Formats: sequence, C-alpha cells, structure tokens
Amino acid sequence: MEKNGIAIDIRQLHRWFGDNHVLSGIDLKIPAGTATAIVGGSGAGKSVLLKHMVGLLMPDSGSIYIFNHEMPRKAGRELEEIRRRFAMVFQGSALLNSLTVGQNVALGLVEQRKLSPAEIDRIIREKLALVGLKGKESRRPGELSGGMRKRVAIARALAMDPEIILFDEPTSGLDPVMAENIDSLIADLRDRLKKTVVIVTHDMDSAFKIADGICMLYEGKIIEQGSPETFRSSTNPIVEQFISRFKRHNDRRIEINREIGPQKELLDL
Ligand SMILES: Nc1ncnc2c1ncn2[C@@H]1O[C@H](COP(=O)(O)OP(=O)(O)O)[C@@H](O)[C@H]1O
Ligand SMILES: [Mg+2]
Repeated sequence: MEKNGIAIDIRQLHRWFGDNHVLSGIDLKIPAGTATAIVGGSGAGKSVLLKHMVGLLMPDSGSIYIFNHEMPRKAGRELEEIRRRFAMVFQGSALLNSLTVGQNVALGLVEQRKLSPAEIDRIIREKLALVGLKGKESRRPGELSGGMRKRVAIARALAMDPEIILFDEPTSGLDPVMAENIDSLIADLRDRLKKTVVIVTHDMDSAFKIADGICMLYEGKIIEQGSPETFRSSTNPIVEQFISRFKRHNDRRIEINREIGPQKELLDL
C-alpha cells in the first residue's frame, strides 16, 4: 500500500458558503490503490469534500495534493491535466436518455477526439463487459433498472482510464441486493484494476464491506478515521449513534427484501 504513495492529500481544508462553514479544517490522506469511504449524515459536507478532490470546488484555505502535485487554484491546462487522472460517478448516474448505452459510455472519449470510431467501439464493449453489461450497448438508459444505469455510469468512468474514481452515494436509491452488487463491483475495481477509490456514502453497510479506510464527517470536521474495525469499536458517541441508527434502518431494509425476494433485474446481468 505504502509503496504506491498517497493519491490524495488534503491539508487543513476550509470552505465556507456565505457564513456556512461547511468544511472546517479537514486533514485527510488517501493511499493509492485503496478504497476510502467518507461517511456522515445528510448535509455533513461529503459531496462538497468530494468536489474539492477533483477541482470542481476550490478551497478558501488549505491545500490539496494529487499524487504530490498541488491542485491549482484556477482553471487552465494544469487543472485539466490533474482532472484527467479522475473520473466521477455522480449520484443520479447522469446518463443522457437521448443516447444509447454505448454512446453514453463513449461520451468523454468522443469529446477527446483522440481515438478512431473502431477503437472507441472496442473500449465500449470492453468496459460494458467489465461491469457485467455485455451486449447492452444499443439499449437506452430509460429501459434499464437503477442498478444497471449505475453500472453504465461506472463503465463511462472506466472508459477514460482514470487512476482515481470518485463515487457519490453509489448505492442510494438501490434495493439491498442491487446495492450489494454495486459494492462488489467497486471492490473489484480496486482489487483487479488497482484503482484508487473514494466513496461518499451514508450507507455504513457499504463502507464496512468495501472500504480499507473510513472517515466520518460531522459539522465540517473529521471526527473519526481509521479501519472498519476502528469504526466498529469507536467510543465516540456520535459515531456509535450513527452506526446504530444505520443498523436499525438496514435491518428494516433486509426485512423488506426478504418479503419481495430477489430482484428480476439481477437475472439480466
Ligand atoms: N453550491 C453550494 N452553495 C451553497 N451551499 C452549498 C453548496 N453546496 C453545498 N452547500 C451546503 O454545504 C453543506 C454540505 O452539503 P453537501 O456536501 O452536499 O452535504 P452531503 O454530506 O449531504 O453530501 C450543506 O449545508 C449545503 O447546503
Ligand atoms: Mg451529498
């Protein structure tokens, strides 16, 4: 782990929106080739932190280093170069319904204008196969289940061959079986493709399952960070409460899932 170095190094990051001090002194190191989960309640600043990592938002103070390069503070070629090392899978999948699945996967590649149509077709097929959607290139996003759409969004991220993939709430809105499926796929990206993965989630179940390291945001600060074991045995009352509240919620979800049985869409994968 250590020999690959630190992919993302955040130092004393502060960010305000008006007088809302959303991030107040974040220090976080994300080792290359690992999966890190950022957890916390709604409005804790998880998405804002993620957007700083990829340069979509700039800090008011503090700094961010990506593989030892400091993130530039203004748009330009240097920022573009750093951004190319990332791909982001947005919460709602952000697919275009007017395009086919294949065209959605190819969006970034077509924009780059570097590859021939034949090369792009090969990448579309390869990435769809990787996410378990072989042969689905001519389908429309609207015809697919939420879990499959999420997979298309992941294939689109992989098409750009990024070193770091950021996921904003990858399992939200999915039933527990689908959620587990997406969790395994994300773990696979780290294990087989050696990608650095950052997952923003309020789903402790996902975090415990996939993450090598977890950090919890609360009122703009990291109040706990470490291995899943560290979290399970945390004596911080806010962390304990967050985990136990999630457990109750999740037990209910598992009950519901037992009643409705395995999802049909799963069989299509
Ligand atoms: N573009 C923005 N302008 C103003 N306030 C924002 C903006 N983005 C996020 N915020 C505020 O920052 C806080 C954290 O938001 P966010 O990171 O989206 O939370 P979450 O942990 O649910 O992802 C919230 O209070 C939100 O209202
Ligand atoms: Mg969010």
